[in-house]
Amino acid sequence: MILDIKKYPDPVLTKKAKKIKNIDQEIQKLIDDMIETMYAAPGVGLAAPQVGHSLRLAVFDSSVKEEEGLLTVMINPEIIEKNGEIIMKEGCLSVPGLEAEIKRSEQVKVIGLDRNGHTVTIEATGFLARVIQHEIDHLEGILLLDRISLLKRNIYKRRFVKKQREEAKEQAAQE
Ligand code: NI
Repeated sequence: MILDIKKYPDPVLTKKAKKIKNIDQEIQKLIDDMIETMYAAPGVGLAAPQVGHSLRLAVFDSSVKEEEGLLTVMINPEIIEKNGEIIMKEGCLSVPGLEAEIKRSEQVKVIGLDRNGHTVTIEATGFLARVIQHEIDHLEGILLLDRISLLKRNIYKRRFVKKQREEAKEQAAQE
């Protein structure tokens, strides 16, 4: 089932997500729906808060941009090692219309659980490392907007408020 992707300023996006204790049927269904929603968007990654569930769960598949990408499900992921720094352009399904150069670690080592509850460790560099850090940000309630300058953030917010006002006007005119 394709889920509705929550967008800024939905409060679920800025909440710190809770750890998953039991990988039960409900979680399995959520994982399947998140995978379907990510590919349909299309996106390279999706975190549970983006579909309204404040849980530490993310799915990603960097093969949209890199051939060696693989569909990965991570439950309760944690970065245990970071190396280097790199600036890359990033966007987010929950912050439409924003593309920004973001500085992140070049390499990361992440530990978490797969959907069977087995511990997995991922060592990633380049684009995949970027996707993983972006998704873990979502679990912390951090959005791209929090990673850009105050000036750029205000420009985005102003543009966003204006767009919403225009949409409300259009809707009022139709009624
Ligand atoms: Ni995002």
